[in-house]
Amino acid sequence: MTVSRGDELSFFSYGPQQTRRFGYHLGQLAEAGDLILLSGMLGAGKTRFAQGVAAGLAIEEAINSPTFTLVNEYDSGRLPLYHMDLYRLAGDDDLATIGLEDYFDLGGVVVVEWPERGGGWLPSEALHVRLRHVDHLHRMIDLIPCGPRASEWAARFKQQVFVGTEGTATQSR
Ligand SMILES: Nc1ncnc2c1ncn2[C@@H]1O[C@H](COP(=O)(O)OP(=O)(O)O)[C@@H](O)[C@H]1O
Ligand SMILES: [Mg+2]
Repeated sequence: MTVSRGDELSFFSYGPQQTRRFGYHLGQLAEAGDLILLSGMLGAGKTRFAQGVAAGLAIEEAINSPTFTLVNEYDSGRLPLYHMDLYRLAGDDDLATIGLEDYFDLGGVVVVEWPERGGGWLPSEALHVRLRHVDHLHRMIDLIPCGPRASEWAARFKQQVFVGTEGTATQSR
């Protein structure tokens, strides 16, 4: 079931494969320069979601959290993917001084885990994706588009993934 407020979208994930599939659809619909900010606690499914985005971009390499670097780069897909994990940043680090800001202008797709640690240095126009634990296997996912481009992306996602309207949308599997 989906709930929409304006162009925001909330839906349920029944397991890791489904979270991956949601990411997959966003990856398929992504365009050069698109940005996803993925927030949620440890184990919420951010990396699982990012793996789906990579698959949707037709990237075949295995995607893991960039544990020892801040960003991993994948060039084998339809567009380059830059996967950042800002977990270890202090929050007041300037992304420019640590060399991250250029990634937003390379014409790829950027996916950022722990964007709150970016301390306000991230571009404001982005598709915010929030994952919340419901229980062991279930997550609530909120898509919050900021800016016209992210709004269109979220709208295309909604159309592709959810069939029907009027609050009784059926989740495609
Ligand atoms: N509905 C779900 N969506 C995503 N992950 C889930 C779900 N249910 C259980 N999980 C498990 O939660 C963990 C999420 O891990 P991960 O994606 O690395 O989280 P994060 O990057 O947010 O720390 C995985 O072990 C996954 O199997
Ligand atoms: Mg992670």
